[in-house]
Formats: sequence, structure tokens, C-alpha cells
Amino acid sequence: MNLQNITITLSETKKEKPQSDQLEFGKVFTDHMFIMDFSTGLGWHDPRIVPYQPITMDPASMIFHYGQSVFEGLKAYQTDDGRVLLFRPEKNFRRLNQSNDRLCIPELDEEFVLEALKKLIEVEREWIPSAEGTSLYIRPFIISTEPFLGVHPSSSYKFMIILSPVGSYYKEGIHPVKIAVESKYVRAVNGGTGTAKTGGNYAASLKAQEVSEKIGYSQVLWLDGVEKKYIEEVGSMNVFFKINGEVITPALNGSILEGVTRTSIIELLKHWNVPVTERKISMDDVRQAYLDGTLEEAFGTGTAAVISPIGEFFWNDEKLVINDGKTGELSKKLFDTLTGIQTGKLADPLGWVVEV
Ligand code: COI
Repeated sequence: MNLQNITITLSETKKEKPQSDQLEFGKVFTDHMFIMDFSTGLGWHDPRIVPYQPITMDPASMIFHYGQSVFEGLKAYQTDDGRVLLFRPEKNFRRLNQSNDRLCIPELDEEFVLEALKKLIEVEREWIPSAEGTSLYIRPFIISTEPFLGVHPSSSYKFMIILSPVGSYYKEGIHPVKIAVESKYVRAVNGGTGTAKTGGNYAASLKAQEVSEKIGYSQVLWLDGVEKKYIEEVGSMNVFFKINGEVITPALNGSILEGVTRTSIIELLKHWNVPVTERKISMDDVRQAYLDGTLEEAFGTGTAAVISPIGEFFWNDEKLVINDGKTGELSKKLFDTLTGIQTGKLADPLGWVVEV
């Protein structure tokens, strides 16, 4: 399949665009979307850019019953000189195919879908916000569409890309968030679907998230599903700790999502010669470092969350307040550097951005 196969139907009306400096996360969608269908025999076919609109589905579609679906999240940025940049988009489409493999969804042509995304962004160029801290969030996803109630991989799918101009994910903006450590529920276990970006992982997280919000925490920190001892990740981000000068993030263990921002932060720290280690780290280790006074900083990383400083962990009725609840120096430097590279304000020493 090549780009000539993509048909474009432009919307006759254009929605009013929200004020760039008042954007929230994921509430407003642009005028167009990309769709492509899969059916056994035909493969992926009929790629098209069409006006953003509801889709009609058979109530028996497998997605509604067994949740066979995957998604991704990446962003497009407007530079001061009018260029449009994507951040490591090939990594998202690589991971989408890895999620597809886990969920028995047919593989996509990664190069083709990246080119299709660029074409969609060209159509929606005016929707990319330019105020500081804003971007165009890109949500590619696949749903299973076969009307069938047997538990089996679907024989038909829809791949879609929708776009949403966004501000910061957390209401705290770049101020530190407070996180509750989850001791009752678990997110994933080795051999499960934790490494795949699939809706079920997020559905399973809602209960703990709801409980933590009620007691004033933004998100939960998940511990391992077996001993509930080792740190895994936060609801929508990977997590890093700076302890005694060393930056530590939980090693990928078969249940943690391999975040594109996580990988990039590890690479950036190595590039700066800052000691960074991927290893098992327990909540007891973090508490001990807190008691010793060596827990210098903690922060989360994610496409939506960017670099989000963590000001407090609540664990077993104890509050571990980090860096007096203020943004740490390293978190700030990482945020400034990463967003600087993403928006073309800083040089891109590791060759990450892709121009649309
Ligand atoms: C992202 O960071 O893009 C994600 O997909 C997390 C999402 C659940 C908001």
C-alpha cells in the first residue's frame, strides 16, 4: 500500500478551535480522522481521511465484549519557525505492532501508517496549538469489529487515528503531583498484558485510581503483582527516582510498559554522563532512602505526562514528602531539555525529531 491509496474527503464545516492557553487534555477533537479496515482475505485496506464523525458498529462487535483493542499516544509540536515536529513516531508504531502481536491483531505496515499520520497532520495543521506546554496529541488505535460472541481473535478490525489539541495532562501542570502507592489491587503480572498498550490494562486500573483520587492523590503507583513489593509504574507514566546522585528506574520485567519517554530519558541521562540504572527497586528501598535523606527526587515520564515531578508518595498511612514537595533540579532540567527538543527550541543531539 502506498500514499496514493489514501482517499481524502474534506469536512464541509470547520469546528471552532479552542484558545491555545486554555486547553485541557483530550476533550476536543479536530475536524478529520484517518481510518483503515482489515478483513481476512483483503488484509488492511481502504485507507482514508474523512471528516471526524461517529462510527456505526454492530452491537455484537467483539471489541464491546472481549476488549480486543490496542492504542498508542504521541504528539506533534509547532516550532517557532512554523515547522511541525513529531517525537520518535517510529517507536510508537513499533510498539503498536508489539501490542498487536500480544492481542492477536494483524500487523500494520509501520512505514505506511507513519506516512498516513503525516498526511492527516498536514490536513489538520491549523489545529496544532502553539502556546507553551501545548501540543497536538495523536491517538492511533485498533478495535475488533467482527460481530461474533465466541472468544476468538476477530476476523475484522478498524485502525483509526484521531487528534486532540492538548495542554498538560495533570491539573497540577508542571507542579509536583502526589501519588498513592497501591497495596490492594495490581495492574499486571509477568505473562499478562502489562507490556501491551491495551484498553483492558487501563480499565483494570480505574478502581484503585478512583480510591486514590478520593483521598486527594492524582494517580497510583503500582507495585509488582506477586509480592506487592517492587515498584512497577504509575497509572499513565513510568517512574524514576534520584537517590544519592544515581537515577534509578524499574527494569522492564515483562509487566511494565516500555515508554518512549522512559527510553528517551535514559538515553539523555547517559548522554549527559549522569549515572542511570534500570533495576528492581522496592518501596522499602525508597522509604529507606527517604529516611536516610538520600531520596533527592522522583518523577514520572510519559507522552501525555511529559516529565512530571512527584512531590509525595502516600504508602501504608505514611507520607513521604520529596524535596519539600517542590520540583527537583534534575526533573526541571529534563523537562526543559525534552520539551525544548520536541518543540525545536533546542538542538536534537540524539536525532529524535521527525519533521512532517
Ligand atoms: C500517553 O502517555 O500517551 C498514554 O497513552 C497514557 C494515557 C493513558 C493518557
